[in-house]
Amino acid sequence: MIDLHAHLLPGLDDGARSWEEAVEMAQTAVESGIETVAATCHANLPGRNSADMVRVYRRRLEQFRELLEKERIPLRLVEGMEILDGAELVRKLKRGELLTINGTRYVLVEVRLDAPAWQIYRMLIYLLDAGYIPILAHPERYRCVQRVPAHVKEWARMGAVLQLDKGSIFGRFGEGAADVADYMLDRQLVSLAATDAHRVDVRTLSLAPLRDLLARRYGSACPELLLRENPKRILEGNDVIRFR
Ligand SMILES: [Fe+2]
Repeated sequence: MIDLHAHLLPGLDDGARSWEEAVEMAQTAVESGIETVAATCHANLPGRNSADMVRVYRRRLEQFRELLEKERIPLRLVEGMEILDGAELVRKLKRGELLTINGTRYVLVEVRLDAPAWQIYRMLIYLLDAGYIPILAHPERYRCVQRVPAHVKEWARMGAVLQLDKGSIFGRFGEGAADVADYMLDRQLVSLAATDAHRVDVRTLSLAPLRDLLARRYGSACPELLLRENPKRILEGNDVIRFR
């Protein structure tokens, strides 16, 4: 399987707290059947220097690759960021101050959980018009979507890729998120699911429980598409397969 959203690199955000924890998370990933992870970190947070962030990020990614090789953990790491909506998003992407997923046109983006729906529409249109394909991180966790779930239908129609968090479907983010997760899955609006892992013990880098649950509820073609085929297509810069 392929996980395109995991806070695996230590010292960059609220993800792994040490190299030891990152190695343990990588071990968990391999044991749960994950071969490739996009080591995404929060980016474009107010008050942080994006250009410097990329330099630090890449150095840490390279260090971690070397560490995994030394520990003989067969996990492939690709670059990526979970980019918070903010001013001059496209300009920063074009200047390489923010990173897309594996150097493709796919950009993993998020907004504050209480952001209004119009802000998400504006961000998606802005990115799509500039030739990027937004992967909207965990739409089911946004309050505006929990109030009006039908927004996600429009965002999928516009061309955004909707990424579901593993924790949402297991109820970790409350009933509202779990209900929207079901809504999106039942209507086949989800193109991609990911761990959004932050720790070795909670929000783990394991996809096996999600794969099994999706297979039980929707048949094995569902996890195959959301955890393997579509993430692979994204890494190669190809179009995802949509149900509708
Ligand atoms: Fe995240």
